[in-house]
Amino acid sequence: MPIHLGAAWYPEHWPEERWQVDLDLMRAAGLTVVRIGEFAWADLEPVEGQFDLGWLVRATEMAHASGLSVVVGTPTAAPPAWLTAAYPEVLAIDGSGARAQHGKRCHFDVTSPLYRAFCARVAERMALALGHAPGVIGWQIDNEYNRLTYSPQAATAFRLWLQEQFVDEQGRPSLARLNRAWSTSYWSERYTDWAQIPLPAEDNHNPGLVLSFRRFMTHAYREYQRAQVQAIRAHADPSHWITSNFMGFFDGFDHYPICEDLDLACWDHYIGTGNLDLDRAAASHDLTRGFKRRNFWVMETQPGCVNWAPINNVLNRGEARAMAWNGIGHGADAVLYWQWRPAPGGQEQYHGSLLGPDGRPRPFYREVGELAADLQLVGPLLDGTTVSAPVAVLHSYDDRWAIDHQRHHRGFDPLAHLLHYHRPIARRSIATDIVSTRADLVGRGYRLVVGAPIHIVDESIAAELAAYVREGGHLVLSARSGFKDYNNALPPQRQPALLQDLAGVQVEEYYAVLDTVKVDLSLGGATATGEAHTWAEWLVPGRATQVLARYGSGNGWLDGQPAVTMHQAGRGRVYYVGAWLADDLQDRLLAWIIAQAGVEPVLDKLPVGVRASRRGDVHILLNGGREAATVTLPWPGKDALRPDRAASDQIDLGPYGVAVVTNDQADQYQTGQRTSDE
Ligand code: GAL
Repeated sequence: MPIHLGAAWYPEHWPEERWQVDLDLMRAAGLTVVRIGEFAWADLEPVEGQFDLGWLVRATEMAHASGLSVVVGTPTAAPPAWLTAAYPEVLAIDGSGARAQHGKRCHFDVTSPLYRAFCARVAERMALALGHAPGVIGWQIDNEYNRLTYSPQAATAFRLWLQEQFVDEQGRPSLARLNRAWSTSYWSERYTDWAQIPLPAEDNHNPGLVLSFRRFMTHAYREYQRAQVQAIRAHADPSHWITSNFMGFFDGFDHYPICEDLDLACWDHYIGTGNLDLDRAAASHDLTRGFKRRNFWVMETQPGCVNWAPINNVLNRGEARAMAWNGIGHGADAVLYWQWRPAPGGQEQYHGSLLGPDGRPRPFYREVGELAADLQLVGPLLDGTTVSAPVAVLHSYDDRWAIDHQRHHRGFDPLAHLLHYHRPIARRSIATDIVSTRADLVGRGYRLVVGAPIHIVDESIAAELAAYVREGGHLVLSARSGFKDYNNALPPQRQPALLQDLAGVQVEEYYAVLDTVKVDLSLGGATATGEAHTWAEWLVPGRATQVLARYGSGNGWLDGQPAVTMHQAGRGRVYYVGAWLADDLQDRLLAWIIAQAGVEPVLDKLPVGVRASRRGDVHILLNGGREAATVTLPWPGKDALRPDRAASDQIDLGPYGVAVVTNDQADQYQTGQRTSDE
């Protein structure tokens, strides 16, 4: 499959006579794909049961005739007014009991069986109309699932779902199990009937209930999605893939089970206010690649600016091209701009687009053309290639929900904490997978796995980690690892509970830190003093465990106690980092662990602000800033974007510059595998 470049196109906003002009301009810019249909329900089914798909079919035929592939979006994120008016139960209800209003979007109740039936029907009609239409390559279900609901039908479905989760040895629903798992003697919460179980619509509900509810909402979205997936699969060509577009690290639902029913993972990459941060963006790309452990699409990205951020600044000249290449370097097989041309009315009038309201190209259109020219030159080199990562950072929605519900220190943002570990790795241009804490790790070629933290640990997670380490893997466990059991309760052991033996450490006590705590780090003879903030654990190492850092004087409790430990387990090693270290110490510690684990960057000694990624044999060099930079390669490379230049070991990158470097002999120059003894 080529690397696609495209846009979201809304032909329903314009007279048909205009469409060919749009398509010609798309081709002239070098676009290869359009996404159509999502949000068009009112035009596809203007009256209940009366469908008008002719226009969508004609738009698809014209796109195909113009050489563009088509992704069809189901319109279910925007139910039409006739539907919400006639059947108000399809509208979501928020935590305060208020029903969502018509006139925005995503106002539906994902648990409504009636709504699912309407969605399946419109999806089926679309699949019947376009399932074998030339040019169609895939389908997008809905758009950015996001809303929770607290409706009576959600409560009913939740209680039925709980009856499948909490069962006795015979597999029968067991309230006793639920009561035990949630410790419901506490505050007399005990349930004597399933019907008594509330939805956690208010603050400070039982952590077991809260976590179960989040899992249930994932289940509801999965069922909702499945109804449409089935409708499409029944009628569409089997070569069509099915996806949905996500929002990076958004945590409204657990993306891992949702992705099991999809063929492709996608995300919508927006910066909003500010500028491109290559490493932060890389984390979201790594995350999305990890959903299916394969390449993904950037289904939407900003053509210059958005309209919804506090300051909707336009990205600098060239920045969006670098943004796209950053995605491609991390495994994106497509980049689509949102949107082609703004509707004259509606909520998104000020958003960036490729055409203006007059139907003529805006300045940004030129930059898209440059990207298209890049892809025409080097697309074939990247065809079929992917990213191979020596590091995995583990990620879990359960963990994020559990910590967010009981942060203990308001600054303990679980996502910020995960990124605190991802960034020092990404900034060294080390390829990293972000995968589920339930992903298999053995036999994947990882030299380093990072759990930041692995907060909820059950037997199966513990067993996979142990197997990975025993085979020689290095594992980093951060503070708050092993703090909770599957039901979000405290385990009966000292933390990290089921990981105690593997980590060779116990947490004597944990402290939310008011100011900062001093930390003395000692790594293979080199020492450094710095600080920790937010969270600090007093660690008790086992007999065979080495202490890498101790707290300096501070609150009295922590003085002189171990803060970071290292334990040899089988052929591998486990590092336990008991505190939220300040950035400089964190960077130092991770640099040392990376070296110990023998992890190699894609390229070494890059100028500040330059990052390298690798797909197959192709190296992608990116300058994330406005200062020009020169990269010295360890081998003579040829920049495929500048075919007129001879191979050289010096590659110049202008502001936001990109080079796509090939070298047949690059592997001979690799520094080889370092071992942990060095
Ligand atoms: C996305 C959404 C698009 C559009 C875009 C604007 O979240 O999927 O439909 O609204 O934001 O930035």
